[in-house]
Amino acid sequence: MSRIVRFHRYGGPEVLHIEEAELPLPGRGEIRIKVKALGLNRAEALLRQGSYIETPSLPSGLGLEAAGVVESIGAGVGGFSLGDAVSVIPPQSMARWPAYGELATFPAELVVKHPPSFGWADAAALWMPYLTAYGALIDIAGIQPGDFVAITAASSSVGLAAIQIANHLGARPIAITRRSAKRQALLDHGAGDVIAAEEEDVETRLRAIAGPKAVRVVFDAIGGPLFVPLTAAMARGGLLIEYGGLSSEPTPFPLFTVLSKSLTLRGYLVHEITGDPARLDAAKTFILDGVRIGALRPAIARTFAFDDIVEAHRFLESNQQFGKVVVTV
Ligand SMILES: NC(=O)c1ccc[n+]([C@@H]2O[C@H](COP(=O)([O-])OP(=O)(O)OC[C@H]3O[C@@H](n4cnc5c(N)ncnc54)[C@H](OP(=O)(O)O)[C@@H]3O)[C@@H](O)[C@H]2O)c1
Repeated sequence: MSRIVRFHRYGGPEVLHIEEAELPLPGRGEIRIKVKALGLNRAEALLRQGSYIETPSLPSGLGLEAAGVVESIGAGVGGFSLGDAVSVIPPQSMARWPAYGELATFPAELVVKHPPSFGWADAAALWMPYLTAYGALIDIAGIQPGDFVAITAASSSVGLAAIQIANHLGARPIAITRRSAKRQALLDHGAGDVIAAEEEDVETRLRAIAGPKAVRVVFDAIGGPLFVPLTAAMARGGLLIEYGGLSSEPTPFPLFTVLSKSLTLRGYLVHEITGDPARLDAAKTFILDGVRIGALRPAIARTFAFDDIVEAHRFLESNQQFGKVVVTV
């Protein structure tokens, strides 16, 4: 028997329950891991609320990121041994491959032997933030040294990964956060400049920071009214990559700005990368190399015990965090 987290109805964090379940042995091409740590994502809160891009049948498990040791290996899987330390690339369906449990099963191609120097928390906090930021900034935007890159929801795990990746490439990350409380932490984390969107004029600050070069790439998880100052400060031919919808307000379409500067506004899911073996391989190499040389290092906001999964979700949705919320199992 294994303890797993499930929900039987949509709702707030309180709908999450730890239950005993008999998990089947891993099937062909699968690996089961004894989970040591989970990385929490906004996507899991959305699935729990019934407002995610995936609609599960209930009751459902959840969870996209885990690290642990290989506990059982299905038929047809090579290259792994029992006891290997591994972490997991987020699967496309978390209802099909839920991570929240003492044991969790994943397709072998999504299981990565993680760097030996990594702790369990860091390993569980690696793949979603860095794959998401890598796919947008490098694979799609092809950021270059000196490019100004505006990053919203900057203190999210993805935002912080994007700041590190931009710096690693010699680009100039501008962190946009709601209020100034996280300003110093963002500067300490490598942001070239920080804009507090609820306290400052975002367009004026972006123009002042980027000068005549202007902002070539915007990496936005929010949408809503912020779209207007973001696009107004972009360079001719600039690219806005939309990867989330944190704002509860409607998103205006800045028609004349888009027209006059030939802007590209592009939606993006990390599945573009994780669903393409060649692009995923390139991403994994970049990320593991960056970790090895110390250029990429997950920021852990706070760690909770598995029994406190409800509290961990409450904290995730409080938006107080700076980086990844982790649960140890
Ligand atoms: N497209 C994809 O494939 C993909 C992959 C991964 C994640 N995502 C999305 O990326 C975003 C970040 O995810 P995460 O799990 O790393 O972090 P998270 O814990 O959801 O991010 C929390 C941070 O987002 C900012 N934020 C929250 N609500 C906001 C609002 N209403 N308006 C403006 N800012 C708000 C706050 O940052 P400040 O305190 O700095 O303002 C907050 O600390 C989410 O929208 C998630 O759905 C998308």
